[in-house]
Amino acid sequence: MLVLPKGIRHMPAHLSRAVQETLVEEVRSIVQQAPLFVPAMPRTGKEMSVRMTNCGPLGWVTDKERGYRYQPTHPLTGEPWPPIPDSLLDLWRQVSGYPNPPQACLINFYTPEAKMGLHQDRDEADFSAPVVSVSLGDDCLFRVGQTTRDGATKSFRLKSGDVVVLGGEGRLAFHGVDRIYPSTSALLKNGGRINLTLRRVTKPDEGAV
Ligand code: SIN
Ligand code: FE2
Repeated sequence: MLVLPKGIRHMPAHLSRAVQETLVEEVRSIVQQAPLFVPAMPRTGKEMSVRMTNCGPLGWVTDKERGYRYQPTHPLTGEPWPPIPDSLLDLWRQVSGYPNPPQACLINFYTPEAKMGLHQDRDEADFSAPVVSVSLGDDCLFRVGQTTRDGATKSFRLKSGDVVVLGGEGRLAFHGVDRIYPSTSALLKNGGRINLTLRRVTKPDEGAV
């Protein structure tokens, strides 16, 4: 059996096909209002292979000049991000164990060639809330490690409808996406993978939501 590092929960097939289909429609409507943008690494400006957008009061963005950050508006349109769909707020209530709602939902779109290097999610002020991740579309090989970059890692496949929670001691675990397995799901008409990550950004006593 695959034993995951403490604080990391993999819930296979947590979302029904019907819920996944509804979520895809909601993501399409979010992308119409808040178009996918090309994230670039701080300082080098090297483009990441995923395309991104967000929903929620805050969104995670990155570019060469200003680096990783959360902001209330889309970097290209300047408009506020669309709201987080109710089904994701429900999911957060079910699995997060955290009293306040998520403030950001990062939407990553992976073509068959896209991947994401090993990293920690640490641009948030409150690590007591978990990161809740939803996979839609093609399978991927997900890698998760320890809280140091050189710690041992484990890889496993994430499928459409799977939910992963990075919480507690696993909140700052290094993680990434090694590869996408093309044509493994029929959920997205044109293939690829969508990952949604729900996050708290500020501490509840900092005032905002
Ligand atoms: C992320 O770490 O932002 C994305 C993880 C994933 O795509 O499963
Ligand atoms: Fe991440």
